[in-house]
Amino acid sequence: MSGTERVLSGIQPTAGSFQLGNYLGAVRHWVSLQDTHDAFYMIVDLHSITVEQDPVELRANTLLAYAQLLAAGIDSDRATLFIQSQVPEHAQLGWVMQCITGFGEASRMTQFKDKSSRGGTDHASVGLFTYPILQAADILLYQADGVPVGEDQRQHLELTRDLAQRFNTRYGKTFTVPKPLIVKDTAKILDLQDPTSKMSKSLPTGAVFLLDEPRVITKKLKSAVTDSETEVRFDPVNKPGVSNLLTILATFTDRDVEQVAADYDGRGYGALKGDTAEAVVEFAGPFAERVRELESDPAELHRLMSAGSAKARVIAAQTLALTYDQLGLVAAEF
Ligand code: AMP
Ligand code: TRP
Repeated sequence: MSGTERVLSGIQPTAGSFQLGNYLGAVRHWVSLQDTHDAFYMIVDLHSITVEQDPVELRANTLLAYAQLLAAGIDSDRATLFIQSQVPEHAQLGWVMQCITGFGEASRMTQFKDKSSRGGTDHASVGLFTYPILQAADILLYQADGVPVGEDQRQHLELTRDLAQRFNTRYGKTFTVPKPLIVKDTAKILDLQDPTSKMSKSLPTGAVFLLDEPRVITKKLKSAVTDSETEVRFDPVNKPGVSNLLTILATFTDRDVEQVAADYDGRGYGALKGDTAEAVVEFAGPFAERVRELESDPAELHRLMSAGSAKARVIAAQTLALTYDQLGLVAAEF
């Protein structure tokens, strides 16, 4: 079933496996939104080449990311599931968006500052700098009403809204101004070894990868950093490690987090960690199994990708043509 409101989101094919934060903060919501919205989800491979990458790995990880979205429950009949680089309009609208973005405005993006400071600004590419502008193009091409993402994407969505409004003011109404759809409870799953920062694919020691072996998942959750107290209580400010485990367990078992916390009253951290590990493995085991099945038929994955990208392209081409026209670019007659 499709409603009239459109949602769009994307995920990078940077690692072999999604981490728990990707699933709880984003993909899980994508699955439920496809029932109520006209949903567009993509693998953003052009964003992955903003840092140095290995072509063999990128190709394999793109297929694997696509299989993981299907295994997570995205239905390619209900949602349009596609590959960003297969729709050339993304790069084309990206250029237009670069031309209306201020240099200072782009310089204020905190993810760029974080990522570029890791390797030194001299090593950061111009593509990494303009990454959020391509993301704006991704969203505006589809006239998306809502963008389901984790908390770390809030600033990029603010930029997207600003660019849409600016273009509409300068050249006439062209783009829908999208709203961020950030579900507070799971918007920021924390690193298990350092619960002051978010879980990320690029910090593998503190991340749970859904395609990890069950024993690896269990070990990581059981050795999660908590605090020196013993009381299980949901208190994200003072007890981030414990609260993170409670969030994970409550989400996988479909319960209220305060209620879960009450269940562990007087039982200590060991029981909480063990049960959280069990709940995650219960999801991850069958998930990995479905991914393996899907991966065993790459021809079918390629077919689904191409069909999804062809569907996406119809909308993208319409928006790009309108944008070019609004700008005064002369259309070819061939
Ligand atoms: P990425 O792997 O950076 O492409 O992220 C894909 C999606 O997962 C985005 O919507 C992110 O906001 C979301 N995400 C990534 N890490 C986390 C996290 N630790 N907690 C919640 N959401 C996350
Ligand atoms: N920057 C996003 C991330 O790292 C990925 C992304 C690219 C995206 N284009 C998008 C998310 C469009 C939502 C909409 O998670």
